[in-house]
Amino acid sequence: MKHFAVIGNPIEHSFSPNLHNYVYKSLYIDAIYEKKKVFENDLPQIMGDLKTGALNGVNVTIPHKENVLDNLDEINPRAKIIGAVNVIHKNGDKLFGNNTDWFGFSMSLKKNGIEVKNKEVIVLGAGGTSKSIIYALMQTDVKKIVLLNRTLQKAKELQDDIVFPFSLDDSVQLIKNDSIIINTTSIGMQSEQCPIDLGLLHKNQTLIDIIYTPLETTMLRFGNSIGAKTLNGLDMFIYQALASMELWFGEDISKQVNFTQLKTYLENNIC
Ligand code: ATR
Repeated sequence: MKHFAVIGNPIEHSFSPNLHNYVYKSLYIDAIYEKKKVFENDLPQIMGDLKTGALNGVNVTIPHKENVLDNLDEINPRAKIIGAVNVIHKNGDKLFGNNTDWFGFSMSLKKNGIEVKNKEVIVLGAGGTSKSIIYALMQTDVKKIVLLNRTLQKAKELQDDIVFPFSLDDSVQLIKNDSIIINTTSIGMQSEQCPIDLGLLHKNQTLIDIIYTPLETTMLRFGNSIGAKTLNGLDMFIYQALASMELWFGEDISKQVNFTQLKTYLENNIC
């Protein structure tokens, strides 16, 4: 039997085991997927388990998407540009880091008919996930990314020709009534908080949250109540997971998965 895991801290919120185990069961794959609470000091041990085969692959979540970079033998060129890894697989003796978050986000925009080409987009947060989102937005020829983060310095590190960094405190001046706003922070995952003042939300905005637990964060609930277009993180979560499976089991696997059934299963199980 093969063993997979998602590593992170906190990890309680993760539905990756539910998703992967559902797929393994429905496709009769002899594998099991767990969640592991991992501190930065534990990363060498996890890499050791991957090398010995005690683990066959891992997904990486908060706060290790950037931390793992130094622990890998090779990093996929896209993941290197992004600067964050959310999936690790072994090839021969080597551990490879890859990024499927950007792909998951791109697919999610496409599936939900959200067009960002030539538009200005507001991105909240400048961590590992934000880097993947920014990369995905750049692939779709976005015009401008206004990047708001609690720690301004971290946003400044991502500054370039189209990425303009600001403090989250400046949101009042920067958010418009028709903005496309993407939350990549963890605010709203374990609390009723919203990363920006609810008074800044408007019915003509598009509000995207990469959080999927809960399916409706405070930002999305308020957005829905005023008639804004909203999108939660569930489609992105599913697409990144299917792309991770392709790295572990081969490209055919995602074609065998019934996306709608899987999504319904997750929707029924995520509170
Ligand atoms: P991930 O890999 O999921 O992106 P991360 O790299 O730890 O996780 O990034 C978390 C993001 O959420 C960061 O932008 C963080 O802001 P800081 O750079 O200032 O730390 C943001 N974040 C987390 N908790 C926050 C809070 N309570 N208020 C504001 N921003 C928060």
